[in-house]
Amino acid sequence: MMNVFVLDHPLIQHKISLLRDKNTQTKEFRELVLEISMLMGYEVTRNMPLKQVEIETPVGVAKANIISGKKLGIVPILRAGLGMVDGLIKLLPMAKVGHIGLYRDPETLGPVEYYCKLPEDVSEREIVVVDPMLATGGSASAAIQYIKDKGVGSIKLMCLIASKEGIERINKDHPDVVIYCAAVDEKLNDHGYIIPGLGDAGDRLFGTK
Ligand code: PRP
Ligand code: URA
Repeated sequence: MMNVFVLDHPLIQHKISLLRDKNTQTKEFRELVLEISMLMGYEVTRNMPLKQVEIETPVGVAKANIISGKKLGIVPILRAGLGMVDGLIKLLPMAKVGHIGLYRDPETLGPVEYYCKLPEDVSEREIVVVDPMLATGGSASAAIQYIKDKGVGSIKLMCLIASKEGIERINKDHPDVVIYCAAVDEKLNDHGYIIPGLGDAGDRLFGTK
């Protein structure tokens, strides 16, 4: 596996454990996904370039740093990726948000696209694709390819739980994409669910099952 950061901060790890628990209900699940996304955002944005400016304080002039460089875009993969947007937007209020709707065909497990709306200036932005689960990697790989086809040069993938297989798939299809996750799980079951994982992220987030 390459290009993977597993974020092992104790707060992230603790909250991921609560998320995995089958007794965690929708309200808490949603709050945890938001909090973990915000904490992960701290690492995902670590390499943002800074530039020095002069800031007038009430008592003097400070040489101070502000963020410079390319603007950011956040692209959740619907549905479950939506749960990760609010945490990131709190950190990055100027980021624009695009949406890609994909579901997995239950037979083939291959991604089927049903919606896409990206910011007009997407090709000038650095994009963070967000989705809680990286299982076979089919959905994330297709979303990344779609965004690349729109001319985007810099893409990161942020997920909560990844499978080894999913990471290998992204490494193979998109060797330029760095993956940030909070856990790497061993395997997938016959339905493409991550084991032990946390179940169906979309259903748990929106209470649909
Ligand atoms: C889930 C998840 C990912 C995808 C991961 O979405 O949120 O998008 O599966 O699986 P993959 O890596 O094998 O492609 P799902 O298709 O269940 O749709 P939903 O978010 O609308 O529930
Ligand atoms: N999608 C989910 O929501 N959970 C999994 O374990 C795999 C794909």
